[in-house]
Amino acid sequence: MSGRPSPAPVDARAAALEALASRAPTEQLAIAARRLGGTRAGIAALDALAVGSERTPAAERLDGTLLEAICARALHGAGGAVFTPAPEARLLAALGLACAAARRGGPAASGAAALLLAGRPAPALAVALDGLRVLDPCCGGGALLAAAEGLARGVGATLALIGRDVAPLCAEATALRLKLLGARADVARADALSPPWPAAELLLANPPFLRHERVPAPAKARAARASGLSRQADLSAHVLALALRHADLAAVVWPRALDTARSAEPLLAEARTRGGFRVRLRSRAAGSFTASVDTRLVVWAAGSPGDAPDAEAEVPLAALEPAEAAALLDGAGGPRVRLARGSAAPRGAVTLGEVCEVRFGTKTGCNAFFHLVPEGAGRYRSALCGTVRLADDDVVPLLASLREARAPALATTSRVLFRPRLEGSASARRHVAQGEAAGVHLRPTCAGRSPWWRLVPGRGVAPVLYPAKIGARAFAFHNAGGLWEDKKWHALFPRDPALEPWALALLLSSTPVRLAVEEGARQLTGAQAIADVDCRVLAAAPFPAAPAMAAAREDLAALWAALRSDPVSTDLGAMLARPAQRELDRLAGALLGLGRADVDAARAALAERVRDRLAHAAAIRKAAAT
Ligand SMILES: C[S@@+](CC[C@H](N)C(=O)[O-])C[C@H]1O[C@@H](n2cnc3c(N)ncnc32)[C@H](O)[C@@H]1O
Repeated sequence: MSGRPSPAPVDARAAALEALASRAPTEQLAIAARRLGGTRAGIAALDALAVGSERTPAAERLDGTLLEAICARALHGAGGAVFTPAPEARLLAALGLACAAARRGGPAASGAAALLLAGRPAPALAVALDGLRVLDPCCGGGALLAAAEGLARGVGATLALIGRDVAPLCAEATALRLKLLGARADVARADALSPPWPAAELLLANPPFLRHERVPAPAKARAARASGLSRQADLSAHVLALALRHADLAAVVWPRALDTARSAEPLLAEARTRGGFRVRLRSRAAGSFTASVDTRLVVWAAGSPGDAPDAEAEVPLAALEPAEAAALLDGAGGPRVRLARGSAAPRGAVTLGEVCEVRFGTKTGCNAFFHLVPEGAGRYRSALCGTVRLADDDVVPLLASLREARAPALATTSRVLFRPRLEGSASARRHVAQGEAAGVHLRPTCAGRSPWWRLVPGRGVAPVLYPAKIGARAFAFHNAGGLWEDKKWHALFPRDPALEPWALALLLSSTPVRLAVEEGARQLTGAQAIADVDCRVLAAAPFPAAPAMAAAREDLAALWAALRSDPVSTDLGAMLARPAQRELDRLAGALLGLGRADVDAARAALAERVRDRLAHAAAIRKAAAT
C-alpha cells in the first residue's frame, strides 16, 4: 500500500508564538488572550489555529499555556523566570493539595494524592479542598496554580487561588490564564521580598533561582531584612524562608544547593524546628525538568515530626505513576523510587573536621596581579602589569588547579604567587605601586585586607589540599613540596601531629570517603560536569579514628607507595579498577567499619553518580545548543 505521508502535526503554540513575535510582549498577551477566549485576533496565522483548553491539552490546539510561553520568551530567564513544566507542576501541586486535604479532615494524604492524580470525582476529598487558599508568591506564568486548579476541579473542588509575581507580565499572564480556566483567583504584581503576603493555607512555589552574586544590592538588602538570612544566601533561600513561615504547608521546588550552603543553614534549622519534610523527591533521570540547578520537589508541613527519607526516582518525575507519588506520602519507596539510606556516619568513623582543620584556599581578589608566570632571571609576567622584576622571596610556588596535580604526590606548576614579606623588598613595593595604579587595591576582596596585598598572613602552607571543585577526577594532594594553594583548593591542617599528611591524603582519595564528599557536593551549573565542594561538606566526611589508622599504618604505607605517583585520569572506571585503589577502598572501608558489600556498593554508587553528572551536563549542553 502506498499513500501520502500524513502531514506533520501542528504545534499550535509554536505557530502562535511565531505569529505574535513582532509585537510587544504585553500586546502579545492581550491578543493571545482574545484568541484563547474565542474571539478572532485579526492575525491570519493565529486565527487559523484551533483553540482548546489546557484541561484537555492537545498540541494542535492553543490553550492557556501560550500565555506562559509568551512570558518565557519575553523574560528569557530574567529574574529567575524559568517555569515549571506541566508534569512536574502537576505532581508537586498534587502532593501539596493531598497534604492540605488531610489536614482539613479529608482522606489520608496518600489516598488523596492518588485520587487527585486519577482526576475522578471524589466527594469527601472535594469537601476537604473546597475554598482552600493556595498562594504562589512568585507565580511566573501560573504553572503551579493552573495545575492545582486542574487537579482540584478533577475531584470536584473549587480552590481560592492567589498569585503574585514581581514581573508585571507574569502577573498579567497568570491572571488571564486562570480566568480562562474559570478559576477563582486573585492575581497581582507584588515583590515577595516586601511582605506581607496574602494569607494562605497552602503555599506553592518554584522560587527564582538567582545566586546571591546576581541579586542587585538593594534587593539583596531587602531580602536579608525580610528573611533574616545573610546576604550570602541565594534568592531562592530568602523566598523559601519566607514561604515556610507564611503557611503551615508548602509544596515547593527546592534547589539542592540549599541543603549544603552554609548561608541556608538557618532555613533548614528553622524548617526542622517548626515542622518537617513530608516529601523530598528528586529524579536521577533527566526529564523535562532540566533546570541548570539540581532540584527536588519538597513538601514541608508545620508540626510534622521528623523528615521523610530522601527519595530518588530512577525515571524522570514526569514518568512517575500516581501510585508511586502517593506512596511517598506514606514514607514508602518502590522499585523505581529509592529511599536514601540513613546518612549516619559509618561505625568506627569520626568526621574529617574532627581530625583536621579544613580551610578555604587562598582567594587573591585579582589573579591577574597576584599570579605570575616566571620568565627567568628574576622576571615574572603578570596578566595585569606585564613583565615585572621581583626578588626571589617576593613570590612562593603556586598550585593553581587540580589539573596541575597529576597524582596524589605529583604536580607540575607553572605559576608563582606574589606573597612578599611584610616589610616588602624594593621590587615588591614597585609591584604593589603598579597594582595600586591599576586600582587592584580597590577591589572588594583586596580592600578587605590590610595591607591589601598581604595574603593569608600568619599561616603556613597546607600539608594536604583537597579540590574545591570535583569532576570525574578528584583526589587529595600531599603537599610535600610546600606549594601555596589557589582558592580552587581547600587547605587541610591535621589537628594531631600523629596524623601523617600522606595518610590523610591517601584516605581522602579512597572511594567511601570520596562518595560522602560527592553526596554533599553541589553541581552548580548543569552545563559543566563539575560540582562545588563546600568546606563544611568536606569537614563532615567520615574518617577513620586515630587508633584504627595507627594499627593499619604499614598497609596504608604500602598503598601510598603504589598510588602516590600514579597519574589520575578522568577515566573513573580505569581508576577504580587499579588493584591498589581497590585495596585502598577495602582497607578504608574496614577502618570506617564498613563491610565488603558496603564498599562495593560505594564504588558502584560513585561510578553511577559521576556518570549521571556527565550525562546531565551533556543533556543541558545539548538543550542549550538547540
Ligand atoms: C522559577 S520562576 C517560577 C514561576 C512559577 N511559579 C512556575 O513554577 O513556573 C520564578 C518567578 O519568580 C519571579 N520573581 C523573581 N523575583 C521575585 C520577587 N522578588 N518577588 C516575586 N516574584 C519574583 C520571577 O519573575 C519568576 O516568574
